[in-house]
Amino acid sequence: MPQKNPKYPHQSPEKSEPSASQKAWGGVFTEKTDGRVELFTESISFDRVLYEVDIRGSVAHARMLNDVGLLTEHEFKQIEHSLLEIRREIETGTFPFNIEFEDIHMHIEHALIEKIGDTGRKLHTARSRNDQVVTNLRLWIRDSIDRICNRLLDLQAAFVGRCDNDFDVILPGYTHLQRAQPVLAPHVWLAYCEKFERDKQRLKDCRKRVNILGLGAAALAGTSLPIDRKKTAEYLGFEDIAANSIDVSSDRDFVLEAAFCLTETALHLSTFAEEWVLWSTSEFSFLRPPQAFCTGSSIMPQKVNPDVLELIRGKTARVAGNLQTLIVLTKGLPLAYNRDLQEDKVPIFDSFNTVESVLSLAAPLVEGAVLNREAIAERLDRGYLDATVLMEYLILQGVPQRTAHGIVGRLVRLAMDKQVPLAKLPLSEFHQVHEGFDDNVFNVLGAKNAAAAMKSYGSTAPDQVRLQIDRWKAKIDAVYQKTA
Ligand code: ARG
Repeated sequence: MPQKNPKYPHQSPEKSEPSASQKAWGGVFTEKTDGRVELFTESISFDRVLYEVDIRGSVAHARMLNDVGLLTEHEFKQIEHSLLEIRREIETGTFPFNIEFEDIHMHIEHALIEKIGDTGRKLHTARSRNDQVVTNLRLWIRDSIDRICNRLLDLQAAFVGRCDNDFDVILPGYTHLQRAQPVLAPHVWLAYCEKFERDKQRLKDCRKRVNILGLGAAALAGTSLPIDRKKTAEYLGFEDIAANSIDVSSDRDFVLEAAFCLTETALHLSTFAEEWVLWSTSEFSFLRPPQAFCTGSSIMPQKVNPDVLELIRGKTARVAGNLQTLIVLTKGLPLAYNRDLQEDKVPIFDSFNTVESVLSLAAPLVEGAVLNREAIAERLDRGYLDATVLMEYLILQGVPQRTAHGIVGRLVRLAMDKQVPLAKLPLSEFHQVHEGFDDNVFNVLGAKNAAAAMKSYGSTAPDQVRLQIDRWKAKIDAVYQKTA
């Protein structure tokens, strides 16, 4: 006579008897799973973070089963109560994890059955892990997108928060990393805000395709049981329900899309980090990151290294790598669930976690950095940053653009030979190259004048930049107020 297994007090003896049957699929098996296979196939080491969404999903599923009469009210309440108890156990660290139960879904279900026996055995009615895992992932990604968007907003607020203080600072703008034209510091800060805004828009758009219920597709063909998927969707806040049960469990588009959105965000962050790494060198000396965000050298006592910025740049590699992993993972997979898909979690979790940690450091770093106004101002008139505005001055006098370009080129050559800025050339020298110059040419020369002249919409003239600062302030305040 088989003995009742004391580990599973609610399990009937005939179900706990052969060790293979402790698996959810035990019935047909006569051999116990090889320990090496358990180690190789487990996902509990990385999918346990899904515990909260798994429980949320199961409570909604059980509530729906109760609605349609597949569970009694009492059974639903028992399941709900025990699932919330399990959640507390996980959160307080008293929940036992064991790779024998493969993943978080099996762990929670097993614990539920331990607590309430046969009622617990009913939870998986009209459900498969295939649609369960996808539902969990959709909930987790949906929450994570919201968190990242909030972090992006904080970073934008940090840049916008600097704008008034830095309003009087004119920086050399670069193309090809060569001095090009003067720009206001806040114009640079807002350039990042625009990029992060598109990142938020992309994530919010991706969220629409994440926010679809797969549950109810079961293994791949749906179910003969009278479920109500719209109810489950409503309980979980999903916008819609997936229309094809075969598509549900193989669809990882939403994971790849999120991974791409995060890659683009990380790329933007790497541009910012690279610029600030350069600016904090003694060669540039434009900016000093807060010391609390730098580290020193163990051998060169004078060093203050911008490690946080370097790692912001560096961590972009893993985020981009995760996207690549997901692309290769899903390439050529047949329809419906294939175990390969278990591998989607490590990269997508890592991308969200990495970008979140980067954003949470970037915002205080941006707030605390100090511009070295003297060093910037002292070298601002080097590099003929006013050449373009001088060309435009000639265009306004009716000189064709190509001709004006040539005239200014010759003037720059003249000034280079004399090692002076354009503004230091006497009017007679201007006349040597082109007759039409008069005294007011000096009103556009010099970095400050040149920047002030750039007045087309979205340009760097102070009035234009002020317009954009005000727009950003209002936009950020409005979102903060809405979420307060
Ligand atoms: N641990 C699996 C995963 O994360 C759960 C789904 C398993 N489904 C199955 N049919 N074996 O993908």
